[in-house]
Amino acid sequence: SRRIRAVDLAKRKAAGDKIIALTAYHAHTAGILDPHCDFILVGDSLGMVMHGMESTLPVTLEMMIVQAQAVIRGTSRALIVVDMPFGSYEASREQAFLSAARVLKETGAGAIKMEGGAQFADTVAFLVARGIPVMGHIGLTPQSVNTMGGFKVQGRGGGDEQRLLADARAISEAGAFAIVLEGIVEPVARAIATAPGITAATIGIGASTACDGQILVLEDMLGLSDRVPKFVKQFGSLRSQIEGAVAAYAEEVRAGRFPADEHTYPPA
Ligand code: KIV
Ligand code: NA
Repeated sequence: SRRIRAVDLAKRKAAGDKIIALTAYHAHTAGILDPHCDFILVGDSLGMVMHGMESTLPVTLEMMIVQAQAVIRGTSRALIVVDMPFGSYEASREQAFLSAARVLKETGAGAIKMEGGAQFADTVAFLVARGIPVMGHIGLTPQSVNTMGGFKVQGRGGGDEQRLLADARAISEAGAFAIVLEGIVEPVARAIATAPGITAATIGIGASTACDGQILVLEDMLGLSDRVPKFVKQFGSLRSQIEGAVAAYAEEVRAGRFPADEHTYPPA
């Protein structure tokens, strides 16, 4: 069996099959997701989730590469997509190509993702023409937190719908195989997902069921994160499970009940 490729996901949109995706940063968790997900995103959300950063801006290309290597080792089936961190692709299409080529060469990932709309269409085309599959990301783009003035739902204001549609169209026409739509109101997400000229598969996160697929940050949907946005459904409650396990361990160590005989090496 071989890995799912970017081109396979484009076919899924045409066939109307939902695309299933989650984020992962570790070998073990990625391995658990592998049979269930079409693609796994090594997201720059790792800066906030793994490292407690206040935004994704400080994340480096080196951090992305190390975690992508871990995710590749833990998986065999899903397409692995790696986020381009802030500052690694915006200056020029040449900078974007050199950064993205490093990611593919050093990790074995099958595609990269970059935030931004029409202003990056020529960069997307440049990469795709040189063998690098690109996933776009529009709407609420966390790397632009300083210019957006916070994490705000997109598509509510006057010209917002036309701008988001133009961004999606530009990225799709430039050759992106998919586009993450983040934090976008339902009618606008639907307009993008169903626009005849937009062939890129739409992957929603806080962008309604109208999208061709869905993605969530794994730790958020598992109930491990302490705060989650409105669009997250917590399918698990890992935080309380871990708390319970750690409290039980502390209690048993204090009481001398752990380690028990079964956890202890007998003499010779
Ligand atoms: O970094 C990330 O996890 C992402 C997803 C939320 C789409 O970009
Ligand atoms: Na991201």
